[in-house]
Amino acid sequence: MSVPVITADRLGKRYTLGGTPGGIGARTLRDAIGAAIRAPRRAGEARELWALRDVSFTVGAGEILGVIGRNGAGKSTLLKLLSRITRPTEGRMRIRGRIASLLEVGTGFHMELTGRENVYLNGAVLGMRRAEIARKFDEIVAFAEVERFIDTPVKRYSTGMFLRLAFAVAAHLEADILLVDEVLAVGDAEFQKKCLGKMDEVVHAGRTVLFVSHTMGAITGLCPTALLLEHGGVVMQGAAVDVVHAYLNANRSAPPSIDIARAQHLDAHHGAGIVRLERVELENPFGGSFAVPWKEPIRLTLRYQVEQDMTNVVFGLRVDSTTGVPLFGAHHTDDGAQPVTIARGTHHLNIIIENTLQAGRYVLAIGAHSAVSRDILFLVPDAATLDVLDVTATGRPYLGKYGCQTNGSAAWEFSD
Ligand SMILES: Nc1ncnc2c1ncn2[C@@H]1O[C@H](COP(=O)(O)OP(=O)(O)OP(=O)(O)O)[C@@H](O)[C@H]1O
Ligand SMILES: [Mg+2]
Repeated sequence: MSVPVITADRLGKRYTLGGTPGGIGARTLRDAIGAAIRAPRRAGEARELWALRDVSFTVGAGEILGVIGRNGAGKSTLLKLLSRITRPTEGRMRIRGRIASLLEVGTGFHMELTGRENVYLNGAVLGMRRAEIARKFDEIVAFAEVERFIDTPVKRYSTGMFLRLAFAVAAHLEADILLVDEVLAVGDAEFQKKCLGKMDEVVHAGRTVLFVSHTMGAITGLCPTALLLEHGGVVMQGAAVDVVHAYLNANRSAPPSIDIARAQHLDAHHGAGIVRLERVELENPFGGSFAVPWKEPIRLTLRYQVEQDMTNVVFGLRVDSTTGVPLFGAHHTDDGAQPVTIARGTHHLNIIIENTLQAGRYVLAIGAHSAVSRDILFLVPDAATLDVLDVTATGRPYLGKYGCQTNGSAAWEFSD
């Protein structure tokens, strides 16, 4: 391996929850509630939570390490320790070089300042001189596609604009290490591709990247190796494909309906929580599990909640393999239907997916975006795990298709 650039040696971070309702230092209401549910507290008793424990690894120069794990596993905590936003409770880390980080969207950005001012501020924090930053400035603005808004305070930016600028700053300024926390959660597909391309470039230029993502295809596509965190500990480290596979196949009990916790939604910067998926139900479940017979259409019912009247909403879904390879995606507008207007309240959406999948296990991602701003309204990347069974609806065993990935059907017409 090349020179170690990041060395984490038994890193641990303990948070104390107690005192004020929900716990001192809980970042968000969501964290406070989550922590309170997991650790009901008797009066006067302070609760401790190890957000990260006994985490050791090294990353060399020019390497990119993927970091995956469920919500609350400790991924962001790890990046915060490495970027010195918080201090470890125990263990040590050694870091060679300057770090640029894109943590929860907006860290290091000041809402009242303009895009231009934020670029200079971030450069200054990295120890760059004004002239050095000026040399990178145009490239940053062009990458972020915010030319017209560069002198507008960033609080007026849409989610997409804000994220594009934050990513451009982190990726272009002269840091040796780039820490990226879930950049793909917001932003449209084109920008996601651009970010992935840029991260690849950064690595090829000899810099080191730590990339946290819930998008398994991005992890396996970009990172040769990955780290799986669970309850603050490393449960697996190795080839990204193996780690992703292990993660997606862990403790799947596959019930016929799945309640979506608020925490499973990837946070969108603006509009976060206005549209929220609450439940995914599979109709006609087979054998009481989240499974459908071979070739049987997949009928889903979503229950979702909208906090305020919304217009121009487009729902979408994607089916991924358990190794994170996207197999296909669909939007409700694909066949010419219009984006929808939704009144405040609880609603249902029935979806029928033509089942061209081979027998096996798949992961469903469900989300919605605005047709106008393209902002993601919600996104649950692993809303459900679906098994396509190796039997037909009548229970007849299916004979296998020579290891093919999808089903197709053919008309067979015999003649002399
Ligand atoms: N400042 C804090 N005070 C108290 N608890 C915290 C704090 N920050 C994080 N935690 C808790 O530490 C645990 C790990 O959180 P962390 O944000 O690192 O998870 P994550 O893997 O990034 O999750 P996600 O996928 O949702 O982003 C969670 O239980 C969280 O509630
Ligand atoms: Mg996180």
